[in-house]
This record gives sequence, C-alpha cells and structure tokens, in this order.
Amino acid sequence: MAFTLQYLIIFSLCILYVESTDPSAQLCNENSNTTTSEIKKNIDSLLTTLVQATSKSGYSATSLGSGQSRVYGLAQCRGDVPSDECSTCIQTAAKEIKKVCPDRVDARLWYEYCFIRYNTENFFGQVDTGYGTFYYNVENVTDPKTFNSALGALMYRINSLASAPGNKGIAKDETKLTDFVTLYALSQCTQDLSQLSCRQCLAIAVGNFPTYCDSKKGCRIIYSSCYVRYELYPFFFPLDAKSALESSSMTNYVSVIKKH
Ligand SMILES: *[C@@H]1O[C@H](CO)[C@@H](O)[C@H](O)[C@H]1NC(C)=O
Ligand SMILES: *[C@@H]1O[C@H](CO)[C@@H](O)[C@H](O)[C@H]1NC(C)=O
Repeated sequence: MAFTLQYLIIFSLCILYVESTDPSAQLCNENSNTTTSEIKKNIDSLLTTLVQATSKSGYSATSLGSGQSRVYGLAQCRGDVPSDECSTCIQTAAKEIKKVCPDRVDARLWYEYCFIRYNTENFFGQVDTGYGTFYYNVENVTDPKTFNSALGALMYRINSLASAPGNKGIAKDETKLTDFVTLYALSQCTQDLSQLSCRQCLAIAVGNFPTYCDSKKGCRIIYSSCYVRYELYPFFFPLDAKSALESSSMTNYVSVIKKH
C-alpha cells in the first residue's frame, strides 16, 4: 500500500511536469491586422473545430467565416505522439494561443508535441520559413567528423521519407555511431504541404545546421511549415516514461530566433 501510494505520487509529479511544459516557440505577428469581434468569434469556433478534429486524427486544417472575417486554421501533432498526448497538447495549445495573442489575426504556437496556427490570410500549402526558432545543445560532440557525416546521411534519409507519398509528412530513424552511442532524428512537415514543398522546407531547415547546430549534441529547427530535431538520446515515441521526461528537459539548450 505504501509503495503504491509513493508510486502514484511520483507518477502524478511526472504528469504535472510534462503538462506544464512551456511552449517551445510562439509568434504573435505584430504586422498583421487586429481582430474584430466578428473575427474573434470565428477564431473561437475555429479553435474548437481544430481541437476536436486534431484529437482524433493528429492533423486538421480548415477555415471558417466569410469575407474579411474568414479565418484559416491548422493544427498538427508530432506524428509519433500517442493520441492521448496529442489531445492534451492541442487542448492546451488552443487555450494558450488566445492568451499569447489576444488581438492579432496571425498567431502561431509550438509545443514539443503539437503546433497550432491561425490567420485571416490563407496560408495552406505555402512553405513558410520566415520565422524560425532554433534550439541547440551547448555541448559539443567529441568526434565532429564522424558525427557530421552520420548526421548528414541520416537527415538525407529521413527527409526523403518524410516527403514521400503516404508518410503524412513525418519520418524518424536512428543510427549507431559507436557500440554505446546512437543518434536519433525526426523530421516533419505540416500535412497541407505538397511533397515538393515538404522537401523544400526540410532542406531549408537542415541548411541551418552548419550555422546553428555545428557539432552540437542535439538541435531543433522549428518553422511554421516543418520541424527537424536530432539528439544523442531517444526522444520520439514509443518512449518509456523516464525517456519521455528526459527528452522534454531543456537543461543545456539555448534558443535562437531568426526572422526574415
Ligand atoms: C487588413 O485589413 C484590410 C482592411 O480590412 C485588408 O484590406 C487587408 O488585406 C488586411 N491585411 C492583412 C495582412 O490581413
Ligand atoms: C563547443 O565548441 C564551440 C566552438 O568550438 C566553443 O565555442 C564552445 O565553448 C564549446 N562548448 C562547450 C560546452 O565546450
């Protein structure tokens, strides 16, 4: 009994920690128009629809309203994330995005497990790398030459897979660097992109590696249209609870925002 109770307490602490994880990135576009009460109403309905649909299938893109008040929205979970985690993430995201950006018509919010976005302009199908958030591990790998060539090969492989038909814009894989060290990587596009656009976005993302991720033990490139991450520890599902917790820790990571 005592053991069970202790276990339960530890377990609920973990849940609390994961759920209280901050967004990895956010954009409330100050250059966009301010909302009207009509647009606000449409955003509310749109968010409700996005939460329901994305909780079921992991992705949805839809629009609502007419004329100047029409809003376009997209929500997507990381493709490897189980549906209960996806649902929790997207519910939080829908709630938070209105707080982060209460009066603008172009808002985006990224969590590790999901992404949500709305705009009065139709953005579906467009490669958007205008706003990037990059995270890199401050620690360097010990053997950059071997590491970089293994990373290059792995990224090339998964980026081709992510943009291949039937893969829903996601691919993940791992490669052994030594008997004791494994490199894990994942890439994903939003599902509104064509195969060609997905490939373009991922190429732009990986193109940042030499500048922001050079010889780093881990790195993440977060764009509105695609996402790339690699680590020297497992971070994608299926994951045990301990690895899931470790993989959401941001100790040792530094973030950089790049706009153009
Ligand atoms: C801002 O609003 C004006 C007038 O309603 C409209 O013509 C214009 O396209 C809007 N711009 C953006 C960026 O939504
Ligand atoms: C990693 O390498 C860079 C460039 O050589 C250096 O500036 C940095 O201090 C190194 N980081 C650590 C944690 O040793």
